[in-house]
Amino acid sequence: MREKLEEIRRRALAELADYASTDRIEEVRVRVLGRQGELTAVMRGMREVPPEQRPEIGRLVNEIKVQVEARIEVLAAAAARAALEHALTQERVDVTLPGVRSSCGRFHPLTLAGERILDILVAMGFEIVDTPDIEDDFHNFAALNFPPGHPARDMQDTFFVDAGLLLRTHTSNGQIRVLERRRPPLAVVCPGNCFRRDELTVRSSPMFSQMDVFMVDEIGRVTMAHLKGVLIEFLRAFFGPDTRVRFRASFFPFTEPSAEVDIGCLLCGGAGCRVCKQTGWTEILGSGMIHPNVLRAVGHDPESYQGFAFGLGVERMAMLKLGVDDLRLFFENDHRFLNQFPATDEGVL
Ligand code: DAH
Repeated sequence: MREKLEEIRRRALAELADYASTDRIEEVRVRVLGRQGELTAVMRGMREVPPEQRPEIGRLVNEIKVQVEARIEVLAAAAARAALEHALTQERVDVTLPGVRSSCGRFHPLTLAGERILDILVAMGFEIVDTPDIEDDFHNFAALNFPPGHPARDMQDTFFVDAGLLLRTHTSNGQIRVLERRRPPLAVVCPGNCFRRDELTVRSSPMFSQMDVFMVDEIGRVTMAHLKGVLIEFLRAFFGPDTRVRFRASFFPFTEPSAEVDIGCLLCGGAGCRVCKQTGWTEILGSGMIHPNVLRAVGHDPESYQGFAFGLGVERMAMLKLGVDDLRLFFENDHRFLNQFPATDEGVL
C-alpha cells in the first residue's frame, strides 16, 4: 500500500511540472484528489489494510493530498499571473497613438465672404432681397437703360433661355424688381448668381456671384456724397480700417454719373506690384447715381426721387481679401485649398 501511495505521489508531482497546462493540472486534480480519485480509493480500501498500518497510511494519504493541493495552488497562481501578463501585453492601449480624426465640414470661402459682406450691409441698414436668376430682357437690360444694340444683349455674351428669357448677367435686375413694386425710401442689397458666356479662366467664370446695393429716397436725401460715405465705410469694414479708397469716373448705362472704385493694393500696400500692375490700386466695384431713365422705367419721377447704386463681385472681394490669385481655385473643390479658410469665431471671414 505504501509503495502504491508513493507511486501516486511520484506520478502526480511529475505531471505537475512547472509548465503543466491548465488541462493537465485539472486532469491530475480529478484523478488524484477527486471523489472517484486515487486517494479516495485508498481511503475506501482501508478495511483491507492491517489495523496497525492504518494510522501511517492515513497520515501518508493526507500528506500526499496536502502536497498535491499545494502544488496545484502554486501552478494555478502562476497560470493566473501568466494570463494577466498576456492580457496586459496583448490588450495594451497606447494612448500616445494618434486618434482617428473625424473630418468636419466647413463653409466654402465664397459663402463666408458673401455672409461677411451681407453682415456689414445689414448692420448699415440695408435689407436683403432675393430676385430671380432667370429674367426677361426688360428687367436685365431695357429698364436698366441698355440701348437695343448693346453688346451685352448679344448671343455672344448672354445665355438665352426659351421664350425671350435669359440667365441674368448681373444682379442689377434687383433694382428693377424692387423699385417696380415698392416706393422709396429704401435701402436694399440683392445678392445672387449671374451668368455670362465666358470661359473659366484665372479671372473669369461663366457663373459668378454678385451683389447689387442701392438706396433711393426723395431728391436731395441720397447724394453722391452718401454713396462715397457708404462705400468707404463698407470697404474698410471688409478689407480693414486702413484701406485706401479711390473713385474714378466711368460709364454704366444705368448710372449717371458713374464711378469705378479702387482700393489701395492689399498685396504691396501701394508700392506697386504684379497684381496691381505697378499702379498701387486694384479695381473693386462699379457704382453711380441711378440714371433718371431707370427710375422712369419703373414709374418713379426722377424729379422727385434720387438714389445711388453699386455692384460688386463676391469672388473678386474674396480673392483680394484672401490673397487668392486664380478664380478657378474656388470652383475646383480641392480640399487642400478649401481647408485653408476656416470660419472664425464670428462664423465668417
Ligand atoms: N451691373 C454691373 C456689372 O454687372 C455692376 C454694377 C456697376 C452695378 C455699377 C451697379 C453699379 O449697381 O452702379 O458689371
